[in-house]
Amino acid sequence: MRIALTKGRLEGKTMELLERTGVDVDAIRNKGRRLVIRLEELNLDVVLAKAADVITYIERGACDLGVVGKDTIMEYGQSFYEVLDLGFGKCRFALAGPRGVDFYSGHGVKTIATKYSNVARAFFEGKNMDVEIVHIDGSVELAPILGVADAIVDIVETGTTLKENGLEVIEDIAPISARLIVNTVSMKLRKAEVMSFIERVRRGMQA
Ligand code: PRP
Repeated sequence: MRIALTKGRLEGKTMELLERTGVDVDAIRNKGRRLVIRLEELNLDVVLAKAADVITYIERGACDLGVVGKDTIMEYGQSFYEVLDLGFGKCRFALAGPRGVDFYSGHGVKTIATKYSNVARAFFEGKNMDVEIVHIDGSVELAPILGVADAIVDIVETGTTLKENGLEVIEDIAPISARLIVNTVSMKLRKAEVMSFIERVRRGMQA
């Protein structure tokens, strides 16, 4: 089997969890520039990829299992099984704007800056509210400061970035945490192997 892990923010906690399930994470940590790490005793190949690419590899059947944030699943995910909430990487999606400004006042169409256009669109559709969405690739908090947007839809973890930039949460949208996902075909054709891996992770979470 092959598992795709999200590199970056979730990487450390994913390694800790794998370690608790008995995986030799040194082999992964000392990978150098190698992109595929073979774990012979588990008959498992490990790849580290950017979050959105983890979804692509799972959906195209290139990987059987994946670890990815619910934020990426909500933005890009279409068809796979989400089998476990891994309980780390906890944060939330929120609508945020300049402190003390009533976002809902006035009649004009509001402009929303975000890296998560689909999440933002779905959120405002749920409110039957027409908005203009501006895609920003990083440090979305800059957009309202520069006058490009009235508000942002973004990830809030500690709230420090908002606070230090004169912004505040207007409304929470959804809780986020890391998830274990499984390719739909692997779930059928490699059921025993997949289920035993899920069970292993479940035990690791309790260890
Ligand atoms: C994320 C998010 C916020 C920040 C929230 O950005 O987009 O900017 O973290 O964290 P806080 O509530 O603890 O301050 P990230 O660091 O991933 O970088 P990016 O904005 O460039 O995507």
